[in-house]
Amino acid sequence: MTIKVIPTGAALGAEIQGVDLSAPLSADDREAILQAWADHIVLLFRGQSINDDDLIVFSRHFGELEIAPASATDMAGSQEKSRPEIWIISNVVEGGKPIGALGDKEAEWHTDMSYVDEPPMASVLYSLEIPSKGGDTSFANMYRAYETLPDDLKQQIEGRMANHDSSMTSVGELRAGASAVLDVREAPGAKHAMVRTHPVTGGKALYLGRRMNAYVLGEAVDASDRLLDALWAHCTKPEFAWTHKWQVGDLLIWDNRCAIHRRDAFNGKERRVMHRTQIKGDRPR
Ligand code: OGA
Ligand code: MN
Repeated sequence: MTIKVIPTGAALGAEIQGVDLSAPLSADDREAILQAWADHIVLLFRGQSINDDDLIVFSRHFGELEIAPASATDMAGSQEKSRPEIWIISNVVEGGKPIGALGDKEAEWHTDMSYVDEPPMASVLYSLEIPSKGGDTSFANMYRAYETLPDDLKQQIEGRMANHDSSMTSVGELRAGASAVLDVREAPGAKHAMVRTHPVTGGKALYLGRRMNAYVLGEAVDASDRLLDALWAHCTKPEFAWTHKWQVGDLLIWDNRCAIHRRDAFNGKERRVMHRTQIKGDRPR
C-alpha cells in the first residue's frame, strides 16, 4: 500500500491516507510521511484504531519523546497515565478530579510549551472521544505569517527576543505553583528569538508562543504591547489558518516550530478525551 498526501487547500495541513498506524511503518512510508510533514506542517490521519503503545511507536519516528512531570506542564492535574509518555487532554472529571488538561474552554492561539528553553518540536494528538460539536482545533502557518509581514514589522523584530510567560495555561488559568504576573518584564518563562529558522526546511518562521504576558525584551511595556498586538493581529488572519473538525480515531501531528494552534470551547456536559505525545525539540534559533 502506498500512502497518499492530500493537502487541505488551506495555508497548511494535509491528510495522509493509506496508512494503518497500528502496524509498523515501512521505510518508504516513513520517508513519505516525514517529507509531507516538512511540506505541510500539520498532518491528519483519519480512522485510526490505535492504543497508547502504537501512539508512542508512531511518535518516535519524529524524534525522542518528552516525559513531563505533571507539575511542570500544561498537564497539571490528576491525570492517570497509562505510560509516562502519554499526556491526556480532556474535560472529563472522575471522582472529583480531572483526568487530563485543558478542560472545555477555548484555548487561545499558542504554540506548545514555548516557555521552556527547549520547547517540544511537535505534538501528536489522537482522539478517543469527541463532543457532538465544538472543540475544533485550528492551526496557522508561521512561515507564511513571517513572509507576509509588512517590512516595518519585520525590521522591528529582526534579531529581537521575547519572553514567553510560563505562569498561564492556554485556557487562561494560572499554572499550579505560579503567581499572577503584575509586570510583564518580570514574568517567568523562557526568552526566545522572535523569528526562528526551521532546522529541517531552512524556512524562517515567526515564533511568538502566546500573547498573554508576552514581552519584547528591551522595549518599554507599552511599545512591546503595541508591537505584539500588531504581530498577533497579522499572524491570526484566516488566510494563514486551517481548522480541523474532529472525529473519533483522528490523529494530528503538528510542528510547533512553524505553527500556532487554538481550540474552540465545547459543551462541558459532553466528553472529549484525547491522548497526546510531545516530541523533544531544541532551542529556537
Ligand atoms: C494541546 C492543545 C488542542 C485541542 O494539546 O496542546 O492545544 O484541540 N490541544 O485539545
Ligand atoms: Mn497546545
